[in-house]
Amino acid sequence: MNNIIYLDAAATSLKPESVIKTEMDFLRHSYANAGRGICARASAVDNMVAAARMRTAKFINAVPNQIVFTSGTTDGINRIVKIINESVCGYSLKNKTIMVSDLDHHSARLPFEILSKSLDCKIVLCPLDAEYNLDCSDLPYADVFVIAAMSNVMGRAQDVARLVAAARKKNPDVITVVDAAQYVVHDKIDVKKWDCDFMCFSAHKIGADTGLGIMYIKNPDRWILPDKFGGGMVSKITGSTVTDNYNLQLEPAPAKFEAGTLPITQIIGLPMAIDYLESNRPNLELIKYLHDRLSKNERIKIITSRDATMFTFYVQDMHVLDFGALIGARGVCLRVGNMCASWMHKLLGINGTARISVGWWNSFDEVRCAADIIEEIIK
Ligand SMILES: Cc1ncc(COP(=O)(O)O)c(C=O)c1O
Repeated sequence: MNNIIYLDAAATSLKPESVIKTEMDFLRHSYANAGRGICARASAVDNMVAAARMRTAKFINAVPNQIVFTSGTTDGINRIVKIINESVCGYSLKNKTIMVSDLDHHSARLPFEILSKSLDCKIVLCPLDAEYNLDCSDLPYADVFVIAAMSNVMGRAQDVARLVAAARKKNPDVITVVDAAQYVVHDKIDVKKWDCDFMCFSAHKIGADTGLGIMYIKNPDRWILPDKFGGGMVSKITGSTVTDNYNLQLEPAPAKFEAGTLPITQIIGLPMAIDYLESNRPNLELIKYLHDRLSKNERIKIITSRDATMFTFYVQDMHVLDFGALIGARGVCLRVGNMCASWMHKLLGINGTARISVGWWNSFDEVRCAADIIEEIIK
């Protein structure tokens, strides 16, 4: 890898050869649009997209019509806000109580917070315990609960099933929205066990391509109008204009939620990424090694626990961006800044952190070399 040590898996994963080859083969030999034609090539693409949807459903213990392809976690959560705030299905977010948390990524919390202003929603915080885990022992009432299944700063799996159940005790109709962007890399997702209403993750973080996300919807028929309109999701329109009282009949889910051409190439690579991830989860012994070694250095302030999926820290008396520039210049790629998780940093009382995260491509030697460089920089 040109002497680069890539330790930023949590930002995006490198791609297994099987994903690259599948996409290249498709682009070279089988390319056509999906859901648009009946010729042999178009039908073959439809079959490939259906197979990818089925594989994805199996991956999270769902059924195919609960799987909607989006462009990523951010896109998915922004879309969920619009889908549920649709009065046609008898639900509106107006005056509702939305529970978010300080573990949230900007992508999960901001779409709800921004909307809350115009709809007079009340924002409440999910309590955190002493180790910064979501604490379900005394949840406030909520109509919508945004759950960070794993924070991209703290790297610990949250007990989503218990959180969903606890929120339902306070309000049986609560709508639960799970951000699984980090969780999906490390652990098996079982949406039946979680019993959440929505769940999102991004394909690029699990070794598939960019521009593709997965949005799970527990009851896709409950949400009558989608948030987007266009090709591929209409079964029939009678009449000529919208004012002409025409009758718009939509395709059933998931097509109803997939207006426009899908990121077909990325979708076709997705099953390869899932197969690869399931047998090559990141080796968290590398994170434990960093923790054990760097905790001996007094200038390194570690945020994460030894059993976390990432190693988050800062260096005393050194600006995190200076640290990032110095280590970057030595070929070590890690993430520095607020990680799009401002609230967690505010809670910790710091402006930014550095984060090391590993993937299937990282070796023990690479991590040891990165630790040598860190120690040398801050000597
Ligand atoms: C916890 C979490 N949620 C959401 C996102 C947003 O993902 P994307 O940028 O792929 O939409 C990220 C990305 O880093 C994340 O770590």
